[in-house]
Amino acid sequence: MNQNQDQWKTRLGFMLAAMGSAVGLGNIWRFPYVTGELGGATFLIVYLAFVFLIGIPLLLNEFSIGKAGQKDAVGSFQNLAPNTKWHWTGFMGVIGGILILSFYSVVAGWSLFYLYKYLTGAYWSEPDGGYGMVFDEWISNPILPLLWQALFLGVTLFIVIRGVKGGIEKANAFLMPVLAVLMIFMAGYVLTLDGALEGVTFLFQPDWSQLSNPKLYLTALGQSFFSLSIGVSGMLTYASYLKAKDRLPGAAIGVGVMDTVFAVIAGIMIFPAVFSFGLEVNEGPPLVFITLPSIFASMPLGNVVGIIFFVLLTMAALSSAISLLELPVAFFKRTIGMSRKAATYLCTSIIFVLGIASSLGFGIWSGVTIGGQNILGMIDYLTANFVLPFGALLMALFVGWYLNREQAQKNSEIENPLMFNIWYISIKIIVPVVMIIIVIANIFGYTA
Ligand code: PFF
Repeated sequence: MNQNQDQWKTRLGFMLAAMGSAVGLGNIWRFPYVTGELGGATFLIVYLAFVFLIGIPLLLNEFSIGKAGQKDAVGSFQNLAPNTKWHWTGFMGVIGGILILSFYSVVAGWSLFYLYKYLTGAYWSEPDGGYGMVFDEWISNPILPLLWQALFLGVTLFIVIRGVKGGIEKANAFLMPVLAVLMIFMAGYVLTLDGALEGVTFLFQPDWSQLSNPKLYLTALGQSFFSLSIGVSGMLTYASYLKAKDRLPGAAIGVGVMDTVFAVIAGIMIFPAVFSFGLEVNEGPPLVFITLPSIFASMPLGNVVGIIFFVLLTMAALSSAISLLELPVAFFKRTIGMSRKAATYLCTSIIFVLGIASSLGFGIWSGVTIGGQNILGMIDYLTANFVLPFGALLMALFVGWYLNREQAQKNSEIENPLMFNIWYISIKIIVPVVMIIIVIANIFGYTA
């Protein structure tokens, strides 16, 4: 019997929620801008290799800890490794999840605001000074972005407070299919534009010289973890709500493949549009907020496309934010014995307050920078490139070295002995070695 009171109603419900967690701003906002900065196709190839060789095995690994541990991020480790320090991995995940959602909700708030602007027609044509100036003005306002961030977090809270079956599962069962349809529609439309081919070329034609840049590997690694939601125990928490009969390996592959398909579709949706309008690809975080609106303004039916795009971006952000909030909520609920309601309010408030710093970093606190990055950029960079890989590495070491082989096999639910061996060797040796090399190469050889 599962010890968790919370449970998914169906395995499909779990799969949709896990896909909802994976597909988010990471695919539509982060993936295009890091790909744009690191040379397009070359980055895409390394990213794809990491997703399939490292990401998906680690996703299964994280699922296996949650399902066998049957509790929240910290409790699952305590269940599987009583009286050890392994639960610190889960604790670090809870902190990481809170930090990620603090800046994630800022960007999601921008998306909600843009949606509002599109619905009211304000951004249908290029305002005086261009979209770049509009974005800078909006973002440097000390109050407005905070209100939209709060609104976004309010919606997230509204769903999480309703629990696993009644809130999270239902919301994702609606969000994910709609998201898929909207995205395919958008990509199909963009491909009919003049000059779209150049964007597709950028996305699919490699520039091998980038392969000697160590930053490419760390960024691709971080992006694959961020996109698959691994390393902070959000996926672990979701897997803890599974029933015993629900199998894991297919779920891990399904979620990993779908997430990647969504990222590639987002690339197809964004780069051709950027090239066909002669804009810059290496715009950084504001890419989808500055570049895309000018494209929408000059394309046929751009207002409708703009509305659809920001609906899509907001929905994708929401389904991921739900998982990022559920992670600390599950932890507080159990450790402090709070009700779901109280835990949800508490976590949302903490996240909102932390998020204020990321938001103000674009305005009155824009002087606070490290290595040219503002507060949001810094938290994004540190969580994706270090916290997530470190958390995922600890989980790989936990299953590979702390648990024994039989436990690992039982928990992973891989029945085919050859497949199990391949997975086990990756988790135990290959993945940790590759990850450590990448991180060290970046710490010592990183000059860019
Ligand atoms: N995977 C999400 C995205 O791509 O937007 C972000 C994310 C969600 C990261 C949940 C980590 C997490 F636990």
